[in-house]
Amino acid sequence: MKTARSIMLLALVLVLASFAGSNKYFVITAEDVAFKVPDGFPKPVYDFSSNHPSPEVFILGRKLFYDPILSRDSTISCASCHQRLFAFGHIDHALSHGINGLIGTRNVPPLQNLAWNPAFMWDGGVNHIEMQPLSPLTNPLEMGETLSHILLKLRQNEHYRKDFQAAWHDTVINTERMLKALAQFTGLMISCNSRYDKYIRGADTFSAIEKNGLAFFRQKCATCHTEPLFTNNAYRNNGIRPDTALNDSGRGRITGTMSDNYMFKVPGLRNVERTYPYMHDGRIRNLRSVLDHYADPNQFDTRASPEMRRIGVLSKDQKDALYAFLLTLTDKEFIYDKRFIDPFIDTVK
Ligand code: HEC
Ligand code: HEC
Repeated sequence: MKTARSIMLLALVLVLASFAGSNKYFVITAEDVAFKVPDGFPKPVYDFSSNHPSPEVFILGRKLFYDPILSRDSTISCASCHQRLFAFGHIDHALSHGINGLIGTRNVPPLQNLAWNPAFMWDGGVNHIEMQPLSPLTNPLEMGETLSHILLKLRQNEHYRKDFQAAWHDTVINTERMLKALAQFTGLMISCNSRYDKYIRGADTFSAIEKNGLAFFRQKCATCHTEPLFTNNAYRNNGIRPDTALNDSGRGRITGTMSDNYMFKVPGLRNVERTYPYMHDGRIRNLRSVLDHYADPNQFDTRASPEMRRIGVLSKDQKDALYAFLLTLTDKEFIYDKRFIDPFIDTVK
């Protein structure tokens, strides 16, 4: 019995070791991809038991995420728009840029804690993480591809044939598997180790101004930006006026209900220091200016949601405190997490 068990253990170690050798970028173990609900987080919306994380599927998802082969002219990958060092947002322009330099209609949101999202996009137009990539893949302003052509390219590619085989132990390459692999990769992008999280867990301290900022935040902002995900997952109008050129009516476009017009998904604010510019159309370039917007109720659009009334006029000291608090949401462990590094170009330090 005992020898049988140690032979099995040895075999397992050998399998793992051979796998590690084949991935020269970074060894991903089963432990690395185990899904754990962070302390204090609610129950996730996405059920990983239907897409059980494994190192091979995660690595395939990572490769797909970083590979421009998924776009029509092989120039744009998911990561062209969702850049790791900015919490998978995009900082250098307000609206997204796709194939042939085409400009999209919305600001690229960061990707984090997606497993807790009941809906995706600024208007909640997609309600399942596995379906989410269909939109950028086929959007003519983004990756402009067709699913059948993507599958053809993957099937013709010897490396992908090996990767799919390693992930599912047979030769089938289909849309469902591609989407499940992407969902494993993006679903495991979890930010839960900012200074704020450590403070809440009693593992770090806040300065006086950060403590004040948290107190103001809870009083004025948290009805919409609710802890610990910093969103109540609702659609609201935060008082910015519609951009007449884009004329984006937000949630109303999805539901067709007048009262949902100009409502947008309340964004989670984790890593907000790095995810500039801000708002669905990237109109506000920096965090101080976001606070200037919230500080001046006279400037709010008449459609501003009722919770906006709680804020009132913010003094300079209150804005400074809120600013100091918002910076505590930066999660360097997430941003520099080696599991998410680009397997094509980044080198592991
Ligand atoms: C051309 C830029 C671009 C590319 C390429 C792109 N995205 Fe996005 N992504 C966006 C924009 C813009 C949005 C917000 C769209 C909206 O609200 O209508 C978004 C939204 C998302 C969201 C929803 C986030 C949330 O919190 O609601 C996810 C998830 C996502 N993208 C994943 C991907 C994946 C996976 C790929 C590759 C298959 C990809 N994206 C390719 C620009 C891009
Ligand atoms: C009525 C609900 C509501 C309240 C209250 C609220 N917000 Fe917002 N917040 C939103 C919505 C909705 C957006 C996105 C708006 C858009 O893009 O059109 C947003 C966007 C933001 C953004 C930009 C995030 C990004 O990724 O683009 C920041 C930063 C922010 N809010 C901070 C705050 C702060 C600080 C307070 C308190 C002073 C606050 N919010 C109060 C609903 C609210």
